[in-house]
Amino acid sequence: MKPIKVMTVFGTRPEAIKMAPLVRELQRRSEFQEVTVVTAQHRQMLDQVLAIFKIQPDYDLDIMQQQQTLGQITSRVLLGLEEIIIKEKPDLVLVHGDTTTSFAASLATFYHETKLGHVEAGLRTWQKYSPYPEEMNRQMTDVLTDLYFAPTDESRANLLAEHHPAANIFVTGNTAIDALRQTVRPDYHHQVLDRIDPHHKIILVTMHRRENQGAPMKRVFQVMRQVVDQVSDVEIIFPVHLNPAVQTLAKDVLGNDPRIHLIKPLDVIDFHNLAAQAYFIMTDSGGVQEEAPSLGKPVLVLRDTTERPEGVAAGTLKLVGTQPDKVRAAMLLLLNDAATYQQMAQAKNPYGDGHAAEKICQAILTKIGRQQA
Ligand code: UD1
Ligand code: UDP
Repeated sequence: MKPIKVMTVFGTRPEAIKMAPLVRELQRRSEFQEVTVVTAQHRQMLDQVLAIFKIQPDYDLDIMQQQQTLGQITSRVLLGLEEIIIKEKPDLVLVHGDTTTSFAASLATFYHETKLGHVEAGLRTWQKYSPYPEEMNRQMTDVLTDLYFAPTDESRANLLAEHHPAANIFVTGNTAIDALRQTVRPDYHHQVLDRIDPHHKIILVTMHRRENQGAPMKRVFQVMRQVVDQVSDVEIIFPVHLNPAVQTLAKDVLGNDPRIHLIKPLDVIDFHNLAAQAYFIMTDSGGVQEEAPSLGKPVLVLRDTTERPEGVAAGTLKLVGTQPDKVRAAMLLLLNDAATYQQMAQAKNPYGDGHAAEKICQAILTKIGRQQA
């Protein structure tokens, strides 16, 4: 049988981390011919991931601009991808999650009547602007999708509620867990730890969402600084996203404090291992909410909604939003109340067995292989 030509398209750090195990699996198996296309919606943060997983793209649209708008990302991905789809004629295009790369790539497949598979399909908050623009990116992507790879039963139920055909939905677990299986090591050390008193509690922070930029982010950073001033055995490690809106605010509010370590974005091996060594995590990231339950690390989610209810049900995630009193109270509770901490620190992984990539390949063979045979 002719190999099934599968084109993977991704552009940002989280898509790359979660597509990497799938790219590697597709490349390993003789039933597939894999074509890797990166949009480079992120440049440096994408390249970090490609280097770690040793992925050499076949095509690189190199679209990133400083402070790019959503319209610019969409149009550059759409136009760039069009030529590649026409030339390569893939049997299936795979996109991931909810970025503007994912949505624009989905639209390009529709315009060229090409089959689309959506990895991490079916996550929902059902609120148009929360998170923005991700909720609409994933809903619009799912409208155009042919094969749905849902990480959990909950995400499958969301897709069924929108009347997507059950026969095309596969519950596979999340490829984040596939990646996590390869990165965490007990003997890990990072140089930032040399600057931290080993008896201190480490809070690992990331924050980048568009709807949090500006006032919400500023008030959260102010609370973090106050808590560090108030509690003498706490230190923060914050690998700051390269978005200038985040960089400037982080330096202004959190800079020049010996117990707050603002560092460059970490590669994924460093990030997973520092997460494993942290006392707890504060984040508005999606991916980090998926990884923390496996690591048994409590997470204060700096958002009002989450599309990852599995982590809340597991007890690991607590939605605290960005209001100062709520954020401060949640931080102090985790630092001072051992029972609350223990309850949240149980390692319970709701995202599958770390073999999601294999399951996705198998589903593609079942659906597309059968048609081609
Ligand atoms: C994007 C995704 C978001 C995802 C996040 C993961 C969209 C609309 N947003 O948001 O869903 O959660 O990635 O991190 O798809 N920059 C660099 N170098 C980099 C990366 C970013 O300089 O390697 C700077 C650039 O100035 C860029 C800006 O950050 O214009 C914002 O990047 P962009 O991809 O537009 O938005 P993110 O907030 O990163
Ligand atoms: N991550 C990383 N380096 C960092 C911060 C995060 O490799 O300095 C990883 C993290 O482990 C997770 C992913 O990046 O797998 C999450 O990406 P991000 O928060 O940028 O995007 P989101 O998941 O919110 O879309």
